[in-house]
Amino acid sequence: MVTDKKLYIETYGCQMNFSDSEVVASILADTYSITKDMQQADLVLINTCSIRENAEIRVFNKLREIQHLRKKNPSVKIGLIGCMARRLKEKIFNQGFKVDLVLGPDSYREISKYVAATEKEDNIINTALSEEETYDNIVPLHFHSNGVSAFISIMRGCENFCSYCVVPYTRGKERSRNPETIFREAEELFNNGYKEITLLGQNVNSYNWKDYQFPQLLNELARAKPEMRFRFATSHPKDLSDTLIDSIKNNTNICRSIHLPVQSGSDAILKRMNRKYNREWYLNRVNAIKTQIPESSLSTDIISGFCGETEEDHQKTLSLMEEIGYYYAFMFKYSDRPGTYAHKKYKDDVPEEIKTRRLQEIIALQQNLSLQSNKEDIGKSYEVLIEGFSKRSDKYLFGRNSQNKVVIFPAEKGLKKGDFVVKKVIRCTAASLFGE
Ligand code: SAH
Ligand code: SF4
Ligand code: F3S
Repeated sequence: MVTDKKLYIETYGCQMNFSDSEVVASILADTYSITKDMQQADLVLINTCSIRENAEIRVFNKLREIQHLRKKNPSVKIGLIGCMARRLKEKIFNQGFKVDLVLGPDSYREISKYVAATEKEDNIINTALSEEETYDNIVPLHFHSNGVSAFISIMRGCENFCSYCVVPYTRGKERSRNPETIFREAEELFNNGYKEITLLGQNVNSYNWKDYQFPQLLNELARAKPEMRFRFATSHPKDLSDTLIDSIKNNTNICRSIHLPVQSGSDAILKRMNRKYNREWYLNRVNAIKTQIPESSLSTDIISGFCGETEEDHQKTLSLMEEIGYYYAFMFKYSDRPGTYAHKKYKDDVPEEIKTRRLQEIIALQQNLSLQSNKEDIGKSYEVLIEGFSKRSDKYLFGRNSQNKVVIFPAEKGLKKGDFVVKKVIRCTAASLFGE
């Protein structure tokens, strides 16, 4: 039974968190409908991220800022869910603002019960992690989606323990979802008119359900739904196998865009980061992709100023970026996270101004590489899945090509969101391609 109670969810962090918010909205859908206006909400949930100190500071500021909601509506409940709940647990209750509910990422199945409990008690909390929970039978409420593209989360957790990273502590053990439920969800999205599915996991390509592995899952999904496009994120280089490359190569509806976080171009740093590969091994994977699927685009994540990073290590990161020619990168300053191996074992010894300068050099280089990569597309034609009108003007539509690049082109009569069109690239910026 749907009541007229309203739920507002604000999400920080990675796509997994956005996907989890859709699971939460689905579980609560019996009692709450989603609102985009926080002022109208009876329940406000902030789904949080702990990856860098800044991410947590933003959430704390937000929670402080929204306490005023209680004046207008004294019965409003505010909950903090997700990775910060797991990392900080009861400490969340002593930050100088009121939170009614704290739930870690594996406690959402029972969220209705916990929300109800806030009516009788303060400080409701559950941050336990599970070894099995994948929310596999819960059909997410795709409220973030544009109706064209949706996420399916296929695995959770991480046991790689990169020395800088909180995710293994906030998300717990790696577990994969029953493939039957993945196929069912894909079918449902297809029947509802969706054209593109992004398979999600902290290390999506480490998916393994009783020896049914990611390359097989991807291959079979692509074949089951040839009318749809498939993407996946984030892949860990260690599981970027030749079999996976074959699956992509053999199915034109699997997008030619691989996000392969490298973090650093220096072997000494990679070793200290516990990334389990070195530069040569990573380059070998990149070359395998470039040889087998030459039309594919590559993107990455990079951390600047990790513990002990020298100028020479930094130069190696720049030279690796140049050698590979990423079309896009997420670039971060190293943020020391309490509880991680790096925090215990190494000194966060690169001065802030050097971290910043190195990050700026990385960003400037990437800007050039993005522009270069886009320039190479001029004159080529691509199939574009239309996502809507361009942000700047209703005279233009935009979508993405298989390489995940944004293509903007003049709107034409009869063309709409969800259509596939072929467009020839006539010019570009570092951020987008412009079609005829
Ligand atoms: N599982 C993915 C990454 C998930 S976290 C992978 O291993 O590839 C997303 C990105 O955040 C990481 O790739 C890394 O670049 C960055 N990151 C993680 N911990 C960080 C930290 N302590 N400081 C700065 N950046 C960090
Ligand atoms: Fe973090 Fe490493 Fe796991 Fe990625 S693989 S989530 S960086 S521990
Ligand atoms: Fe952040 Fe948690 Fe994702 S720490 S990056 S929201 S897994």
